[in-house]
Amino acid sequence: MSETGKFILGDKTVEMPVKHGSIGPAVADIAKLYSQTGMFTYDPGFTSTASCESKITYIDGDEGVLLHRGYPIEQLAEHGDFLETCYLLLYGELPTANQKADFDYRITRHTMIHEQMAKFFSGFRRDAHPMAVMVASVGALSAFYHDSTDISDPQQRVVATMRIIAKMPTMAAMAYKYNIGQPFIYPKNDLDYTSNFLRMCFAVPCEEYKVNPILSRALDRIFILHADHEQNASTSTVRLAGSSGANPFACIAAGIACLWGPAHGGANEAALKMLSEIGSVENIPKYIAKAKDKNDPFRLMGFGHRVYKNYDPRAKIMAKTCHEVLGELGIKDDPLLDVAVELERIALHDEYFVEKKLYPNIDFYSGITLKAMGFPVSMFTVLFALARTVGWIAQWKEMIEDPSQKIGRPRQLYTGAPKRDYVKMGSR
Ligand code: SDX
Repeated sequence: MSETGKFILGDKTVEMPVKHGSIGPAVADIAKLYSQTGMFTYDPGFTSTASCESKITYIDGDEGVLLHRGYPIEQLAEHGDFLETCYLLLYGELPTANQKADFDYRITRHTMIHEQMAKFFSGFRRDAHPMAVMVASVGALSAFYHDSTDISDPQQRVVATMRIIAKMPTMAAMAYKYNIGQPFIYPKNDLDYTSNFLRMCFAVPCEEYKVNPILSRALDRIFILHADHEQNASTSTVRLAGSSGANPFACIAAGIACLWGPAHGGANEAALKMLSEIGSVENIPKYIAKAKDKNDPFRLMGFGHRVYKNYDPRAKIMAKTCHEVLGELGIKDDPLLDVAVELERIALHDEYFVEKKLYPNIDFYSGITLKAMGFPVSMFTVLFALARTVGWIAQWKEMIEDPSQKIGRPRQLYTGAPKRDYVKMGSR
């Protein structure tokens, strides 16, 4: 028996179908609301609006739960590697040993980029922000790989998916090398995904580079934590761009542009800058007061979340990884970590943050960890984009393969001038 919800709008009562998912909130299907009532719904920021049906990721914000195809993030981060999570997000099931070996092989053999792209990088200023380079160069992939831009061809979609996941580390490393004036390092097929990335970032042609397996495992886990996160701003950007039929490289470039914002993926860079600005534990109360002051635009970067009204489960794993990396690198007393730990302790007991349910999110500890690993602040969001690429492309794939999908075209509440006649210059 189908369930319906009654909407009483002025003198009209309309019934809308109610749909239930496998877990989580039900939805009222309002697709016919306008045709039946002449009214739109209004929900800036989409705080109560489901934009799509999806089977990929589920978040319970109140409980601090994150599932990828039903598997808790804690278990995936503990037991698997990043490419296993990529396979799971793309195909819905954990791979068998053979499937994993085949997937790793195929990704590895797409890690090189067209040699002409190296010249593309050389058009940038050396001090260009690496995120600006990534937005441009990922979009430019559609100028180099014409044989995988026809989204109506399932085989081309597969090739584009493999290419974008495989080439992001290579291009991210190139953006970093270009920024610091060092030569590009080619990928090596005998290294795993994350070790390959570390080597492309930190090796130099003059000597052999030995990957630290503890750091490689830690970064691989960090990539798992950043892989996908329901319909966040950048994923929604990718879906909306893809709904017009734009090629996947252009859609991912749009996602990178959106992720760059400090309220989203740029928060890891902003959080580290904030910790540096606070500088010492003694200064924390001043910044807590600024964060609480309605007239002050300052926010605690790395705190709060649209969905999590409990501790971000990724932040817990991030904090553990942070201590693991600092320990491996012999960094005993990192002043930024001291500030972060004390800031978290104070904020979690302050009634403003408790009442607004503001907890550390994934960006709070990631910056300290990445800085310790040798990445400059400007590369933090690039690493976020590298990891989130699989989430973006998996969600794009789900949308393209959904027979009911149509171009996204929201409506509006218009409050501008009513119709009026043109006034000639002489009469103004
Ligand atoms: C990511 O969506 C995702 O899933 C994103 C992400 C992913 O994996 O894709 O999880 C990655 O983007 C994590 C979030 C990173 N951003 C930051 O750390 C920036 C700081 N955080 C805030 O800007 C804010 O918390 C947001 C943007 C994350 C969420 O904002 P919302 O949901 O729109 O909440 P809001 O701005 O309406 O805030 C609710 C209240 C407000 O106070 P009131 O107007 O109700 O009085 O809480 C306050 C805000 O002023 N508030 C904060 C705060 N965050 C919210 N006050 C101080 N410091 C903060 N960090």
